[in-house]
Amino acid sequence: MSGFPSFNYRNNVLCGESVRLDRIAREFGTPCYVYSRHALVAAYSEFDSAFAGRDHLVCYAVKANSNLAILNLFARLGSGFDIVSGGELRRVLEAGGDPRKIVFSGVGKQPDEMRVALEAGILCFNVESEAELEILDQVARSMNQIAPVSFRVNPDVDARTHPYISTGLKENKFGIPFEEAESLYASAQKLANVRVTGLDCHIGSQLTELDPFVETREKMLGLLDRLEARGLKIHHLDLGGGLGIRYSSEKPPPARAYIAALCGGMVQRKQRILVEPGRVLVGNAGILLTRVEYLKHATHRNFAIVDAAMNDLMRPALYNAYHEILPVAPGTQADVKTYQVVGPVCETGDFLGHDRELALLPGDLLAVMSAGAYGMSMSSNYNSRPRAAEVMVDGDRAHLIRERESMDQLMAGEKILP
Ligand code: LLP
Repeated sequence: MSGFPSFNYRNNVLCGESVRLDRIAREFGTPCYVYSRHALVAAYSEFDSAFAGRDHLVCYAVKANSNLAILNLFARLGSGFDIVSGGELRRVLEAGGDPRKIVFSGVGKQPDEMRVALEAGILCFNVESEAELEILDQVARSMNQIAPVSFRVNPDVDARTHPYISTGLKENKFGIPFEEAESLYASAQKLANVRVTGLDCHIGSQLTELDPFVETREKMLGLLDRLEARGLKIHHLDLGGGLGIRYSSEKPPPARAYIAALCGGMVQRKQRILVEPGRVLVGNAGILLTRVEYLKHATHRNFAIVDAAMNDLMRPALYNAYHEILPVAPGTQADVKTYQVVGPVCETGDFLGHDRELALLPGDLLAVMSAGAYGMSMSSNYNSRPRAAEVMVDGDRAHLIRERESMDQLMAGEKILP
């Protein structure tokens, strides 16, 4: 067992569902992201069914992984989507997502993006400042439309996660200060081209405890009561995303416990609950497949230089994040050594894993686990490296869902001076 459902050893070879990862490497090359359809569907279904009949909408946070095949899978399951740009909107529509199930988050929406979202008829704009509200009102007026609005408030709760992905503290750039929320709702009522429909928050990502969610829920319900006491009609409460996954020894609560915690105190209330999960739906449904190029045994350290790098998976370099690294075909004749698993990019920060006990030979394949979320979607072309291919396994079949990028694609659009 690998400990990661849908990626397991069979006859001593790591497989995605029933497909051997060495076959995928032969067919599609490396580096290559591999996702499991079964794991994606299972994660979504577990999450969605945990609401047990309560009126709700799961809005998958597109930023976690925006491949069209993945968006399309979720759309087929009835998912809504949380987007943060016109680009993500375009992807969701292209993938067959229902615009009436889209919420638009983000602190810096541009008028053009607001316009296309209004044209598409999205469910709601999660507005993060008074200035944004005014621009949205103007854009909607110019189109003779009414923009549905939910305010993202900042509940000032410590998510106890990495500081870069903690968003619910008052010093973070996100949301409307909690104390100002009521007056902002009041001023929104005076604007002719926005209509308040919801209340929203998101406190951070990769949370592995329930307490911060519960504390947030309590604050949000208090605010909801005060808004209703002012005569405002709030149709939905959006409690954001943020549930963590297991990368190594974390023990995040299961979806069921998390949803139960979110819904606590909501029994008597009529509001629809929205959630914006990203990582928990895709994180452990994907891996990054890479090949060992060279082994370098320096005096103090052993380096395994692989063909994937920080441009493919940025999380280790950016957050010092841990991803388990498993051999695809363990049991080579090589000795076990402590390796620094590094990529070819010219930076010391370019590593995928430090101090890993592995028995390696050049040419061996490795699987970097839990790479389905914020892997490909944060990749870049640094060092002029074309981006990896993406493959989805489904039972015993493997489908290419994104071709490996070519150098021609990379340079298209660049011009030499006359
Ligand atoms: N909703 C909003 C408004 C968000 O900003 C985010 C994530 C989500 C939902 C989804 O959160 P999730 O369920 O995935 O935790 N690149 C970082 C994570 C950044 C998260 C940004 N916001 C990483 O690789 O860990």
